[in-house]
Amino acid sequence: MGTLLFRVSEHESSSPSSGQAPLARNIWLITLSARNERDLDLRISDLHRWAQGQGRDISLDALSRTLNAGRKHHATRRCWIVESIDDLLTALARRGEDAVLSRTPAEGRWTPAEAIAALAAADKAQDRRLALEALGACYLDGADIDWSQIQAACEPIGDLPSYPFARTSFWVRQPETPRGQPLGAAAGGFWDRDVSTLGRQGFAKRIGRADAFGYGVRGTPLLHAASYIGLAVAALRTLGSDPASLRLRRCAWAQHLVLDQPQALAVWLQGDQTEADFEIALQHDGASEVLMQGVARMPAGPAPTASLPIASFDGDGAWVSKDGVFALLAGTGIEYDAAFRHVERVAFGDDAAFAEIAPQPATAEQALLAALQVLECWIARQSSNPAMVSRIGSMTLSGRLGAARHVRARRDGGGFEIVIADADGLICAAMEDVGVFPIGADNDGAEPVMALTHYEPRPLELRAPHPAFPGGVLLFDNDERLADAMREADPRAEVVVVLPGEGFCKTGAASYRIDPARGADYRRLLDSLRQDGLFPSALVHRWAADAFSPLGAAMAAQLTRGVKSLFWLGKALLLEKWPRPARLVFWYRNRSGAAQPLSACAAGLLKTLTQESPQLTARVIDDRRSGDDARAAARMLADELGHWDDGDAEVRHDDGGRFRKTCGRLPAAAAAATVLRPRGVYLISGGLGGLGRLFAEHFASRGPVTLVLTGRSALSAERERELAGLTAGGSKLVYMPCDIADADSVRALVARIRAEHGPINGVLHAAGVLRDGWLADKSVDDFDAVLAPKVAGTVQLDLATRHEPLDFFIMFSSIVGVAGHAGQSDYAVANAFQLEFAELRNAQRATSERSGATRAIAWSYWRDGGMRMSGQDESLARSRWGLTPLATDAGLALFDRALCLDAPAVVAACGDPARISSILSESFHTHS
Ligand SMILES: NC(=O)c1ccc[n+]([C@@H]2O[C@H](COP(=O)([O-])OP(=O)(O)OC[C@H]3O[C@@H](n4cnc5c(N)ncnc54)[C@H](OP(=O)(O)O)[C@@H]3O)[C@@H](O)[C@H]2O)c1
Repeated sequence: MGTLLFRVSEHESSSPSSGQAPLARNIWLITLSARNERDLDLRISDLHRWAQGQGRDISLDALSRTLNAGRKHHATRRCWIVESIDDLLTALARRGEDAVLSRTPAEGRWTPAEAIAALAAADKAQDRRLALEALGACYLDGADIDWSQIQAACEPIGDLPSYPFARTSFWVRQPETPRGQPLGAAAGGFWDRDVSTLGRQGFAKRIGRADAFGYGVRGTPLLHAASYIGLAVAALRTLGSDPASLRLRRCAWAQHLVLDQPQALAVWLQGDQTEADFEIALQHDGASEVLMQGVARMPAGPAPTASLPIASFDGDGAWVSKDGVFALLAGTGIEYDAAFRHVERVAFGDDAAFAEIAPQPATAEQALLAALQVLECWIARQSSNPAMVSRIGSMTLSGRLGAARHVRARRDGGGFEIVIADADGLICAAMEDVGVFPIGADNDGAEPVMALTHYEPRPLELRAPHPAFPGGVLLFDNDERLADAMREADPRAEVVVVLPGEGFCKTGAASYRIDPARGADYRRLLDSLRQDGLFPSALVHRWAADAFSPLGAAMAAQLTRGVKSLFWLGKALLLEKWPRPARLVFWYRNRSGAAQPLSACAAGLLKTLTQESPQLTARVIDDRRSGDDARAAARMLADELGHWDDGDAEVRHDDGGRFRKTCGRLPAAAAAATVLRPRGVYLISGGLGGLGRLFAEHFASRGPVTLVLTGRSALSAERERELAGLTAGGSKLVYMPCDIADADSVRALVARIRAEHGPINGVLHAAGVLRDGWLADKSVDDFDAVLAPKVAGTVQLDLATRHEPLDFFIMFSSIVGVAGHAGQSDYAVANAFQLEFAELRNAQRATSERSGATRAIAWSYWRDGGMRMSGQDESLARSRWGLTPLATDAGLALFDRALCLDAPAVVAACGDPARISSILSESFHTHS
């Protein structure tokens, strides 16, 4: 999306005393563009709403400057000429009608250069308007206009509506670092200077070697972790936060920035002055590459005070001097300019290092730099590999950092803890779960990891439920009984009910009907609430159908009322920029007590949504209670909302109480190789994909077996030759094209396999599709495309093979289905579906409705799979989650082990076991 607003200033050319109307007027050409009409309409609405919210306070100069800053323009365009704020509001309200420009004659239009020249030459308002109209006409024709030639400079506006965290953003100006004032220099660094003028969007900075504390590793100049934090803090200050009291969490470095030449960095922010996500990105060639991400909390009060026992800290006389410390670092290749060597001396213990640092007073960045130098030199004593910070799980900073004098670094679980204190031992800053990335060593400490999910009892400690529903509730329900019970329990509660209907309709002061399948209805609903000044803090969704049915029409209806409705609601919340934190509850009735894959998979969407928007938190309730008492249901909801801080992402209620889903790691164990029947027949969906081929090769090597590979594509000659090479051990490979999501095709496929090769002995379902993108931008077509092979595909494969003598039915799911992943809401749903489907099929096997061991394996990233991560995402997965790519041998061994386990849904990953465990458990108890 691109937006432009161009201003022409006219100067007073006649005096009021002349009796003529004054010619002095400002005229602006406003342009908006987007990828398609639908997006453009949304952009116009966003800008319109923003402009309405500003009242008369819009500076059209500032608006012009902001929207004109290096913006990229898409093909679908509108433009208007306005002379006032009223004009602007009218123009935006008219949306598609560029009435002013329609006056421009179609024939004989000017080129952009001619229009710009005419603009420069025009000295009358009328001429200027004509020139602007001509320019607007060029713009609508798709011309690439060099607006810089006519752009007037003034301060930009920071909070204009935009896509949050757009990969590429155009609203940031990139001021040059002033010469002689390198950022990060001893004079102050980023931290103590407000370098931003861009309010909420973030800011950009050009950074060169001089800004890097003279820091480098093995001769390569790099941007230090302390500088990243300084940049983030400076950007966060633009939200109005007070860096004197700041908590950063989940800071993760995707890659380190080499400063062999000046680099343009941008810091993007999403959130408000209480909590915000931040992302530091390298800007080049119009694209944005993420270097580091994190979450910031700005508590209202000062950071709590605590002390470090510095009296006991004498190092037994074994202090290493400053020279010794930096010689130690140099020995592993880490270097700093003399001016940035802030560690005075260090005493090393078995499990901790204590240090004194200088100068006093220090800048915040110097104190942080010194603390990280202590950690680096402690690691340097133990390893010849230089280490760089790759993550900081949590960091609390107080405004007293200038008085920093002591540092203690020590081991803490899988990471380190660092504490910075003043001369009296008063703690100024603390960092926990600090991870380092050894440079030069690959996959250090990586291990195969298996984990299982299960429910554990988690009764709620009952509190006085009044008021039961503070903040109000937006309830998507099928009738009004629960809403009535809620109002009875809390007469002051604002409960707005939304029933499924034919289309948007406000049926009462606090009741609506909307079409569950129409995305626009959800936006109209939120818009209508906004106009009524209603912003319920809890959104409770209860439309999902009661029991899973694999029949086509029933499944479509379940999707519409369930996870797809949640998809539209999530999009509407993001696009309508819901102005306050919201708690989302997806609550499905489950009287049968059986696994409900189409409902349970909502957890994938909600976990992703909460990662994409820090304003949102969520919970899925699997309600297996018998009875249908609305008052009991209202009490249950009040209890869940009243215990929101527990952070449980998936809970279950039955007549025995409340349970929460959690994830536990399994001890390492060897497993016997998967046994294939001699001359058995095995079907591999997605068989030409990366993992499909890898497993085909693996099964073929354990043959002789018959392998039927399937996918939608036709078989190329090259692939045919490749497959022929796998028949060496006597195994037979055939490829049969089939869309696994299509019931008739799958039935025909199974019939053909039976006819040509005999009964099927095992199914490996490895078909999958990716269409990554933020939920706000995601189209329903993308969502459907990603769900197709894993939802419809799984169900159809299972139905078509239910009478086959299967030894196994294995689905390749993903860890994204367990934990969610920003940008992959659809993929998270699809994989969560498979994990729950495995539970369902396993239960059917117990009642002999199905045969064969059922597994959904939630894989982490395979090194040699077909679905690829960029190097940057791979580094991020490594630093944020401790995940390393799964090597083929390790993956095959995990596969064998998964089949030996007596559990249908299994997580199989590779990396740092402690970190993976903690990340998995965090995805079920978000606040733990
Ligand atoms: N690679 C990893 O690191 C990783 C990690 C976790 C989970 N997984 C899961 O493992 C599975 C295999 O991954 P991969 O890396 O091998 O992916 P891949 O190389 O992209 O292969 C996926 C295959 O699925 C086929 N496919 C997609 N839709 C289909 C449909 N409707 N009917 C039939 N075939 C269809 C595609 O072939 P056509 O386009 O010809 O139909 C493609 O060959 C996926 O389900 C993925 O979610 C992979």
